[in-house]
Amino acid sequence: MVYFEQTDSTNLRIKELAKAGAPHGTLVAADMQTAGRGRRGHVWVSPCGDNIYMSLLLRPEISPDRASMLTLVAALSMADGIRSCTEEKIRVQIKWPNDLVINGRKAAGILTEMSVGTAGIRYVVVGMGINVNQTVFSRDIAETATSVRLETGSDTDCAQLIAAILENMENNYELFLKTEDLSGLMERYSALLITRERDVTVLGENGSYKAYAEGIDPEGRLIVITEDGRRKKICAGEVSVRGICGYV
Ligand code: BTN
Repeated sequence: MVYFEQTDSTNLRIKELAKAGAPHGTLVAADMQTAGRGRRGHVWVSPCGDNIYMSLLLRPEISPDRASMLTLVAALSMADGIRSCTEEKIRVQIKWPNDLVINGRKAAGILTEMSVGTAGIRYVVVGMGINVNQTVFSRDIAETATSVRLETGSDTDCAQLIAAILENMENNYELFLKTEDLSGLMERYSALLITRERDVTVLGENGSYKAYAEGIDPEGRLIVITEDGRRKKICAGEVSVRGICGYV
């Protein structure tokens, strides 16, 4: 594990280590990020001391088209980690594919990045940002963000939470590798899935459309029915979804 008091982005740091040959399982964690990055080019505001910012390096021997499922494996591991470290006081849900939601607000996000060569996957980086003990959020996210502290009323030990998540991740990753899909995790993932049996807006690169989300399939794709009745399977890497009336 490599720890920084402050760095630009743990995803950037771990990619450097990956290129230099760091092994599968290497973790980079920081107390603060000056250039934290989220999905779809968003900034991940990363103030000092209160939260978890970490990136895990994986070198799976799987086909690149399976790698986006690792985001779902991480989401499940994080949700279970938060639940166990908070004595199961709160309900943590997953907004497909990569957000953790507590009481309808976002408490964590995942940025998965991959490098592929002619021989297949070189590495996958799973970047995890969790609002743990933060209590004040900037105005632009104040309505949609929350933290474990705000929802439980008490502080959570970040080191303990990191350990719990990594342990879950190890077990869940092994289950994932057995079938190279989510067959062994789907039941647990689906039980936490907020993006299930509800209306959503699918935000793609070429615009958005409304649909009804049924749930996920074993490849981690979200199954939706479009307004004109077509059944589509959408991949985690391609789109985001929003609830019809706002964030969830
Ligand atoms: C999102 O919800 O858009 C994903 C947010 C991911 C943030 C984490 S914090 C650790 C790692 N380093 C980054 O720069 N981003 C990820």
